[in-house]
Amino acid sequence: MTALDLNFVQKNFPALGHGQVYLDNAGGSQVARQVADRLTEYLFTANVQLGASYAASATAGKMVDEGRRALMTLMNAARPEEIVMGATTTQLFDQLSRALVQTWQPGDEVIVTNFDHEANIGPWRKLAAQGIVTREWKMPQGASLPDLDDLAALITDKTRLVAVTHTSNIYGTINPIRQIADLVHAAGALLCVDGVAYAPHRAVDVQALGADFYGFSIYKTYGPHFATLYGRYDHLLAAGNINHRFFTAAKVPQKLEPGNASYELAYSCIGVVDYLEALANAHGINSTGRAAVEAAFALIAAHEQVLSQRLLDYLASRPDVTIIGDPSADMDRRVPTISFVVDGLSSASLVEAVDPTGIGIRFGDFYSRELVDSLGLPNADGVIRVSAVHYNTVEEMDALIARLEELRSGEAAE
Ligand SMILES: Cc1ncc(COP(=O)(O)O)c(C=O)c1O
Repeated sequence: MTALDLNFVQKNFPALGHGQVYLDNAGGSQVARQVADRLTEYLFTANVQLGASYAASATAGKMVDEGRRALMTLMNAARPEEIVMGATTTQLFDQLSRALVQTWQPGDEVIVTNFDHEANIGPWRKLAAQGIVTREWKMPQGASLPDLDDLAALITDKTRLVAVTHTSNIYGTINPIRQIADLVHAAGALLCVDGVAYAPHRAVDVQALGADFYGFSIYKTYGPHFATLYGRYDHLLAAGNINHRFFTAAKVPQKLEPGNASYELAYSCIGVVDYLEALANAHGINSTGRAAVEAAFALIAAHEQVLSQRLLDYLASRPDVTIIGDPSADMDRRVPTISFVVDGLSSASLVEAVDPTGIGIRFGDFYSRELVDSLGLPNADGVIRVSAVHYNTVEEMDALIARLEELRSGEAAE
């Protein structure tokens, strides 16, 4: 595998190289230059309301449609109508829950997990007001992968949907979505996957995964503050309408996009695909579209594994450190979102002592509150999380490790 050309990568992220080291990427990534270019292009050439008969409005409509198609390429959806766009993943899952509940009966059941971000738990639990029963799929104590037998035991003939994360934003472990999908579908239920912590690291393929719904945040995937939700076409057709009352069931996906998504942000999503194509091409892979996306993410995954290995080796060498989750750096098992705690030290104090070095890491529960609560940590301030993406370097990891070493030998910022 060709090594990732970090000069090329960093040139495409203008925010990099100005003193701040970004290792809180699971909170939000930097934006590729191509995204900002697309954003400007839209605002300066097509900033009108859609749906009118004049030329500029028709152009704007086409551009927003191109943005939707870029998201289709990123997820390998079968058709653009399967792409719902919105402000955040939290809002999109909430919208989905409100659309689906219209087709369910009181007493129907949804399975949520205790290892998801609240975005894929709360909206489903809120359906209790309509008589929907939630059951909880729990991570076994001490494990970083859920047990599919536990899920099988929770499924009943009333189960309508299972909501589960592709990758925990705490553990970084990649869950076996295809196997989960097969189990869920065998029971006649639907699967809603939170791909927020996965999508910045690997090519999402909703068809290969067998997900019925799959959401992620573009602002963590090198794009603008925006999000998208894939829904299989027949499921979207069958879902209820949460937009204007006169929208028909066939108005997919607009019936799930109340008030429309931001047009310029939709168009700027094309910049993420532009960037991935440029990345693939810069490494001698002359492809476009989906093939380029897959090639780019293969390069990304290999580099990320090197970053994970560096930090995990160091953390594993310290008897006073507990890695939260799988200590393996294997790219098939995890993404470089790495959480840990240090004996006798609050997570806040360690992170705050790293801040002055210009390295941005973070502590807390990251809204995966049930998961972090279940860890029974001695401190109330959660885990320390280092979340890399492909534009990070081994040198940055080494600088972080050097600071962690200083703090270990008592040179904390007192
Ligand atoms: C795993 C995961 N799911 C969902 C979300 C929510 O995303 P958004 O901010 O787009 O609502 C986050 C945000 O941190 C996340 O990490």
